[in-house]
Amino acid sequence: MTYEYDYLIIGSGIAGMSFALKVAETGRVALLCKTSLEEANTALAQGGIASVTNLEIDNFEKHIHDTMVAGDWLSDPKSVEKVVCNAPEQIEELLNWGVDFDRKEDGTFDLHREGGHSEFRILHHADNTGYEIQQSLIQRVRQHSNIDVFDNHFAIEIITQHHLGKIVTRRTTDITCYGAYVLNQATGSVDTFLSKVTLMATGGAGAVYQTTTNPLIATGDGIAMVYRAKGTVKDMEFIQFHPTALFHHGDRPSFLITEAMRGYGAVLRDINGKEFMHKYDSRLSLAPRDIVARAIDNEMKLAGSDHVYLDVTHKDPEETRHHFPNIYKKCLSLGIDITKDYIPVAPAAHYLCGGIAVDYNGESSIKRLYAVGECSCTGLHGGNRLASNSLIEAIVYAEAAANHAKNRIGGYQWRTDVPSWNDEGTRHNEEMVLITQSLKEVNQIMGTYVGIVRSDLRLDRAWNRLDILYEETEKLFKCSKASREICELRNIINVGYLIMRQAKERKESRGLHYTLDYPPTPNKTTD
Ligand code: FAD
Ligand code: SIN
Repeated sequence: MTYEYDYLIIGSGIAGMSFALKVAETGRVALLCKTSLEEANTALAQGGIASVTNLEIDNFEKHIHDTMVAGDWLSDPKSVEKVVCNAPEQIEELLNWGVDFDRKEDGTFDLHREGGHSEFRILHHADNTGYEIQQSLIQRVRQHSNIDVFDNHFAIEIITQHHLGKIVTRRTTDITCYGAYVLNQATGSVDTFLSKVTLMATGGAGAVYQTTTNPLIATGDGIAMVYRAKGTVKDMEFIQFHPTALFHHGDRPSFLITEAMRGYGAVLRDINGKEFMHKYDSRLSLAPRDIVARAIDNEMKLAGSDHVYLDVTHKDPEETRHHFPNIYKKCLSLGIDITKDYIPVAPAAHYLCGGIAVDYNGESSIKRLYAVGECSCTGLHGGNRLASNSLIEAIVYAEAAANHAKNRIGGYQWRTDVPSWNDEGTRHNEEMVLITQSLKEVNQIMGTYVGIVRSDLRLDRAWNRLDILYEETEKLFKCSKASREICELRNIINVGYLIMRQAKERKESRGLHYTLDYPPTPNKTTD
């Protein structure tokens, strides 16, 4: 089956849905998601969304400075300024779309503070901000007559000149995207979606790792698709591990204990109940995430433990339950009363700072293809993302990309010569174990050798092992009918390879990339 749409949007988190709402007046929109509209990283966001709103204490310069410090001065200052200065306008947009942020009795926003922020500037909806945003956007999207939602539709590849029989290499300067091949999981058919403009909004890649806070749909599909189409992908070595995921055997994904809890006064304690952050950073538990995650990792290694503790027992129980109702409920369901008991926590893969390289309009190196949200690399995060800067980045860049695309779309036509998906000579894969076992192996390799602390030796080992899995999986993919499982495995391997390769290329410890072979230089600026 072939569809023709003005805009094809792959992914329906904050990036995909806000872009859809911003362009829908100017054309027909297809919005794809691989499961349901409800399942996305966006829906799990807890802490909130960063924006300067209280001008009595805060200003853009402070938010810019905090972002640059957290990013270890690798962020692109222009991108930082763009996001920070456009944030308040996009908060207004969210409010207009019906998002409800908590307010104090005087009507002003009830602002939280998280690691690396010099001021209280995080807007939130209790401790489930992402769910509130996702639900509000879903409602708006469903009401819009120009937006067609295709759930359970899995994008396999973007369509470029390569599919028209032309040779495309990384040196080709005019690679152009004409749409995507998409697996309809209900029928098993691979359909052709032709578009004038395509947006990649497929989110992150936490599922590359065994321990992650991300929903398991976060397999880096968009990044892998763009890389295979010879687009530019960068900064993949900067994987953010959240310091405080709830430690509970067998949970995948891990439940997050928001950083806002440390902003509220919770302190980290080692396995014996002793505070330890003073050994690592003067900002203690509110140091940026890379520092806190490494400190926890070190404490766990020293003690031979698989977790440390977060202690909020000294705070007023009523207030704790009020600010963190979902965390309270979740922990209680596991027998942990957070107003009385320490919370067992450990770091987990949480966020990908790198991704599809884009310019200030959100346009990728491939023409007619934009990328917004966690799958993109705008330069905002540099070596490490400042807490709660992700949701705001997504919506600010959705605005930029929408404005740019709306201006350009009049000059684009659908390609009429795109062939259908070719699955000649393929058959249904009868042995799911070939996929599930390889997936476990990739997760283990990445966690063991390409985690919080790396070294040349570990990266080399990972590389050699991943190479075997790559060869086996490509062979299996070529002879199998398309399925979500084989495509995700292939994407996870591609993304793992990119993380490893770019980690090998960075010969320094910087931001989230920490390697024993190139220890950090002692007098680097931290404030
Ligand atoms: P997502 O929201 O992840 O959406 C991705 C979409 O792409 C999904 O709809 C999925 O179905 C679709 N998709 C993927 N692959 C395919 C494919 N092949 N075909 C079709 N569809 C596909 N950030 C903050 O700023 N503040 C926070 O408080 C915060 N808390 C967080 C808490 C948790 C537990 C987690 C996991 C993340 C948190 N983050 C937070 C990060 C933030 O939530 C994400 O970076 C952000 O939501 C990403 O939005 P997105 O639209 O790019 O992607
Ligand atoms: C959290 O609530 O700690 C997560 C915030 C984020 O990832 O930005």
